[in-house]
Amino acid sequence: MTSALWYRHILPFTLLLGLLAVATLAGDWLLHRFDLVWVGRYLGIPGTLLIIGSLFYSLRKRKIITSGNVKSWLSMHEVGTWLGSLMVLLHAGIHFNAILPWLATVAMGVNVISGMVGKLLLARSREHVLGQRDHYQLRGLSKDEVERAVFWDAVTLDAMTKWRKIHIPIFIVFAVLALGHIISIFLFWGWI
Ligand code: HEM
Repeated sequence: MTSALWYRHILPFTLLLGLLAVATLAGDWLLHRFDLVWVGRYLGIPGTLLIIGSLFYSLRKRKIITSGNVKSWLSMHEVGTWLGSLMVLLHAGIHFNAILPWLATVAMGVNVISGMVGKLLLARSREHVLGQRDHYQLRGLSKDEVERAVFWDAVTLDAMTKWRKIHIPIFIVFAVLALGHIISIFLFWGWI
């Protein structure tokens, strides 16, 4: 049981986070090595757009949009925010010019780690719900319907609801700080 927790949950979580750190350091090193720091600077724009695009998962989950499989939307959210955050981290680099962008970067880091904790919790919730799979099959549901029911049960489990009470405020802090940073850049460019 304990080793399953390690291999199936804690290890993937550590790898996902470690890979983000390694990719950031390696990317930053490469940008400096090949004199491409200016390219890194512009990665903030596609990175932000990717993170915003990934939030469409929330719209699908809340049925504001109805097309596509909700589980695929969640995978898109996980990959999109991971990649978008990597771009934003490369954009931030190790250049210190102002406090606001750094606060936004720290909030994003906390947000990403919290997202990964959510992924771990959701996998655990799914296993818990799957323990009751027979119960669903007895009700004569198809495999597809069972999968869908398991997803919605897992996502509404108490642990997930509690986690969202922390994750969503973290996201709001990050969004406000990032917006402040973006507005100040637009002011600096004379766009507003
Ligand atoms: C910039 C980074 C991120 C932002 C802004 C963000 C934002 C959000 C928001 C707002 C939700 C709530 C959706 C809802 O209930 O409508 C959410 C849920 C979730 N996120 Fe993220 N997230 C980020 C990174 C990540 C990462 C890196 C992962 C995993 C690799 C992840 C995995 C999840 C999971 C599993 C859920 C829960 C599914 C659910 O309860 O509906 N997130 N995220």
